Amino acid sequence: MIKCLVATPGVAVPITPLTKGGLSDWLGGQLPRIAAWVRATRFKAEPGAVSLLADGDGNLERVLAGFGDGEEMWEWAALASGLPGRRYRIDAPLDATRAERAALGWALAAYRFDRYRKAGKAQATLVWPKECDRAAVERAAEATFLVRDLINTPASDMGPRHLAAAAQRVARRHGARATVIVGERLLSHNFPAIHAVGRASTEAPRLIDLRWGKKNAYRVTLCGKGVCFDTGGLDLKSAAGMKLMKKDMGGAAHALGLADMIMGAGLPVRLRVLIPAVENSVAGNAMRPLDVVATRQGTSVEIGNTDAEGRVVLADALTEASTERPDLLFDFATLTGAARVALGTGLPALFCNDDALAGDLQRMGEAEADPVWRMPLWKPYRAQIRGKVADLTNAPEGGHGGAITAALFLEAFVGAGIPWAHLDLMAWNLQSRPGRPEGGEAMAIRAAYALIAERCGK
Ligand code: BES
Ligand code: MN
Ligand code: ZN
Repeated sequence: MIKCLVATPGVAVPITPLTKGGLSDWLGGQLPRIAAWVRATRFKAEPGAVSLLADGDGNLERVLAGFGDGEEMWEWAALASGLPGRRYRIDAPLDATRAERAALGWALAAYRFDRYRKAGKAQATLVWPKECDRAAVERAAEATFLVRDLINTPASDMGPRHLAAAAQRVARRHGARATVIVGERLLSHNFPAIHAVGRASTEAPRLIDLRWGKKNAYRVTLCGKGVCFDTGGLDLKSAAGMKLMKKDMGGAAHALGLADMIMGAGLPVRLRVLIPAVENSVAGNAMRPLDVVATRQGTSVEIGNTDAEGRVVLADALTEASTERPDLLFDFATLTGAARVALGTGLPALFCNDDALAGDLQRMGEAEADPVWRMPLWKPYRAQIRGKVADLTNAPEGGHGGAITAALFLEAFVGAGIPWAHLDLMAWNLQSRPGRPEGGEAMAIRAAYALIAERCGK
């Protein structure tokens, strides 16, 4: 339940969304005192500008809100955060898309991470715009909150065990089955790479495997990097580099959030979620530089750098995912710093072996205010991921094009002909913006959801 959106209108202050160009028209039909107030306060309906109108008794009568910088959803989020804690309604005709943008922006602005400290003041509430699909907005908001909560929870409370428990909770909510292969059993079940990365932690590594839906339906598999904390391993990160690494299970959080949306909507798909959940720790039994690690696929991997652990655990997950030849295979991962150097923190890098899929995802990202940007699976760089003594290396020399070589490494574990999209994302807001507070963030799940919904024929 999204508390800041309410069903019963009751007494609600009307909000009039206006653009600079539309202001004078709107004023034409208003009382002279309103036109006088707008003039006196120099309100021009610039994007982000707000005017609070009082009636003759000093009651808040109406809110005028300037729109028009092209990011409508976040403009609503800014409004929600800025208005006094009252109840509002939108007093303008909106189509379904715009109404949903307004409601979702409003909802996302209400997020607080209050696990360790109760949140402060109550937020302004909005009467559900009648044009919007409430359930869809709620699913998107709740999935985003789930992703943010999982990422924001410190590693001391979000280790591999907790992450598995979180996946079980999502599974239970939707009647899905989740199994977890823990510790040494990873070896007997042939997931050696996940074990190698996670074995040095006091919390055993595991593979979470969630299944839901009808057997013969369109098959969608989501993999998520679940590195609950990334110290870098023996190639230890610096203090600054390590600080945010509780977010390194962000990919897993994304897979769970997206799964929550898919199952909540009852999409006609057969869904599978595979999450290697590990901690990349330092101990006597940690994997070492130039160790050779076996993988489920049989490909041997030379550890060029113990800090390039995400691709190693995902290798086994992608191999397992590929055995069923899904109709769509996604993976989400906070995989490389290089992707962030290339695109910054707010724009996930998309790598995709299918041009139509890539195009659709990029278009849907735009439509959903949830952008992704395609980068190339540049074949000539495959030479760089060849190992010296093993088939592959997890960390090519030099590190140039690091997001690409990481994606090429993953591609080596994806079955031929399976439409696959890899999202290398930040999963974190370094600064607060309207509707997007500093901390864990869901990126590209609305885009991915829209694509899956379209492709499965719902
Ligand atoms: N989890 C990190 C990548 C990361 C760091 C993502 C910061 C977002 C922000 C990953 O495990 C890692 O350490 N990658 C290394 C790979 C390198 C050693 C080849 C990187 O990107 O530096
Ligand atoms: Mn790392
Ligand atoms: Zn990592």
